Amino acid sequence: MKPYRNPTASAASTPLLLLCFFALYLLTTISPALLTTTSPSPYHSLFLSLSSNSSSSSHLRRLTRLPHISSSEANSLAASYVLSSFPFPSHSTSYSVLLSFPLHRSLSLLSPSSPPVHFSLTQIPSPSDPSSSVASLAVPTFHAYAHSGVVAAPLTYAYYGRVEDFDTLQSLGINVTGTVVLARYGMIFRGDIVKNAQDAGAAAVLVYSDYEDYAKGDTFPAGQWLPETGVQVGSTLRAQGDPTTPDWSCRAGEEECERVDKEEIVRKGFMPGVPSLPISGKDGEELHKAMGGQVAPDNWQGREGTPVYHLGPGPGVVNLTYMGNETLRTIQNVFAVIEGKEEPDRYVLLGNHRDAWTFGAVDPNSGTAALLELAERLSKLQKKGWRPRRTIILCNWDAEEYGLIGSTEWVEENREILTSRAVAYLNVDSAVHGPGFQASATPQLDSLLIEASKMVKDPDNPSQTIYDSWISSSDSGSVGRLGGAGSDHAAFVQHIGVPSVDMSFGHGFPVYHSIFDDYLWMEKFGDPMFQRHVAAASIWGLVALRLADDEILPFDYISYASELKRGAKTIEEEAAGNSVRFSPLYKSIEEFRTAATKINDDKKALERKLWGVALSKDQSKLRELNDRLMMAERAFIDGQGLSGREWHKHLVYGTSKTDDYGSKSYPGINDAIGDAKKSNSSDAWRSVQHEIYRAARAVKQASSVLNGGLT
Ligand SMILES: *[C@@H]1O[C@H](CO)[C@@H](O)[C@H](O)[C@H]1NC(C)=O
Ligand SMILES: *[C@@H]1O[C@H](CO)[C@@H](O)[C@H](O)[C@H]1NC(C)=O
Ligand SMILES: *[C@@H]1O[C@H](CO)[C@@H](O)[C@H](O)[C@H]1NC(C)=O
Ligand SMILES: *[C@@H]1O[C@H](CO)[C@@H](O)[C@H](O)[C@H]1NC(C)=O
Repeated sequence: MKPYRNPTASAASTPLLLLCFFALYLLTTISPALLTTTSPSPYHSLFLSLSSNSSSSSHLRRLTRLPHISSSEANSLAASYVLSSFPFPSHSTSYSVLLSFPLHRSLSLLSPSSPPVHFSLTQIPSPSDPSSSVASLAVPTFHAYAHSGVVAAPLTYAYYGRVEDFDTLQSLGINVTGTVVLARYGMIFRGDIVKNAQDAGAAAVLVYSDYEDYAKGDTFPAGQWLPETGVQVGSTLRAQGDPTTPDWSCRAGEEECERVDKEEIVRKGFMPGVPSLPISGKDGEELHKAMGGQVAPDNWQGREGTPVYHLGPGPGVVNLTYMGNETLRTIQNVFAVIEGKEEPDRYVLLGNHRDAWTFGAVDPNSGTAALLELAERLSKLQKKGWRPRRTIILCNWDAEEYGLIGSTEWVEENREILTSRAVAYLNVDSAVHGPGFQASATPQLDSLLIEASKMVKDPDNPSQTIYDSWISSSDSGSVGRLGGAGSDHAAFVQHIGVPSVDMSFGHGFPVYHSIFDDYLWMEKFGDPMFQRHVAAASIWGLVALRLADDEILPFDYISYASELKRGAKTIEEEAAGNSVRFSPLYKSIEEFRTAATKINDDKKALERKLWGVALSKDQSKLRELNDRLMMAERAFIDGQGLSGREWHKHLVYGTSKTDDYGSKSYPGINDAIGDAKKSNSSDAWRSVQHEIYRAARAVKQASSVLNGGLT
């Protein structure tokens, strides 16, 4: 469900810092020994040379013939296609989960001076687009898990629906209680827009795609931008995984399953308590015209030529009806396994989801096409004699769009085995939405990502590598962090602490989650030569091959130490002026840095030893070192989880409480500071101090894992 965001919402960048750490990494690790123990295997360069853009394009064409929402017949055909295309032993695992479908929707505008306007709530594809003939098979535009109800009330306008936007309305004296809030897409997770509106007292919510954000040029099929009837469908679930099985999973056909009931899910705020609908730019404009009251602030206005936006309430009154069906359905994850030769019980996992709101050419099947093409290359390596040292597992998830459900149920079901055996999880959701590589990772993988980016040519400028264009482009030249829950890495990182990566080409795409995300859009705008697909598979595969084949795991915790410190500084600023002390956290971060340096020294020492010695004798030492490298991330997991949202157990990276897409460092401290600022009680600030100590203890645990000795 990779969100489309406005360019202004891009994450902070630290290209310089990263460069420094990488330089340091090279200085500290290059030795003759390195050449024999961790140098790229000849199979790795062979992997790069075996790429095929015609294979990705034909997989994508097959996967995007029909709209294939989770649990539909079309999505099970897609599952069979993936199963039979994997050139390795493959299987599928099915779960019974709560999905949501629209039964009835209607929207009309009742203005005092003119007859009612009924909105069709239908996207209209161009007849010249081959997909248009089957577009009516897509699910009607809706918000999954929206509350069912009928509301007739005046409109208010709330910009991007963030907490600060409702604060602005309040400061301007606008009371949204009992009104229908009209908000724009583009800054935060839609489930949080609805939640924020509900908390402010709204009776219902309409979320539209403003031309200013989604139609900056010619619209599809003439250009890449969202047509005026385009609607962003999506989930409003504010939880990861099936909300009826919050910490566990229920396999399809299993009779005895504990389930939480719907009322409790709504009461906890995981499902909305007021109705909502997503609507088009055109319908949003109509509604703006019906509103009066104060003129909205300058930055809340639309693009040149659109009517002036007012805040309301009214006089326009809308009548909104939504009736949904929340129902248990069967979903299907598909896996292929390439068993490791030396360490079959160590897993390198690659994952992408398959289910799509519509055709899913970008989201997610560009990633599925890349995964299948990558698998074909691995199969060719295998025919030439390659066997990975560790086991590689290719995962194709279902029901990601509903709330990361397929991946989360699987992680919950396999929690203890994954905790003891998973080396890393490499996620690719939408592999390609345009030019420009971007990646996020847990920091011990930064240097490996950068190394891999130096091995692959930039598909948009073959005279240089991806590294050259990635690191040199100022607003994107950095590795982002994985605190956000925008895709299937969330359960791996935030629930069980597996080192992870998430990557793609492109920086958002305007037809996101609309009927226009189809093969023609990809062919014309996303990736006309399918060379970006190939490059995505190359980096993804190369990172996987290093993790699967290197004798010593290519993790570097020095970069982690610096990121821990950077995050601590940011969060300390949030608490500035209050009497909480961050020194316990800083102290444990310094110990962590020492431990990271020590394990790098241990790596070098072992490498030197391995250089001359028969490897078999040192397998147990190697295993011991690798286990320390693999398990350090797990130490950031706290059994109790974040207070009030216990599923989130990672104390260093997590979502923002008010934006599920937002990534925060030290989410527990962050939550506590937010509460303390609101109440400003000494008890609340004591909780902040408690959270600082708790994070400090987690960092300390990670240092002892890296050090590998008992006290
Ligand atoms: C907003 O309106 C509601 C109902 O109309 C009322 O109960 C509430 O007190 C109002 N809030 C403010 C801050 O005026
Ligand atoms: C709102 O729409 C519903 C469904 O179309 C209809 O039953 C109801 O009478 C309408 N209410 C008003 C106030 O127009
Ligand atoms: C809800 O969906 C289920 C199938 O998943 C179906 O059996 C049931 O009839 C639907 N309910 C309504 C009211 O349409
Ligand atoms: C593959 O790439 C070549 C060279 O860049 C290009 O000519 C060809 O059209 C591409 N194939 C597809 C299916 O896009």
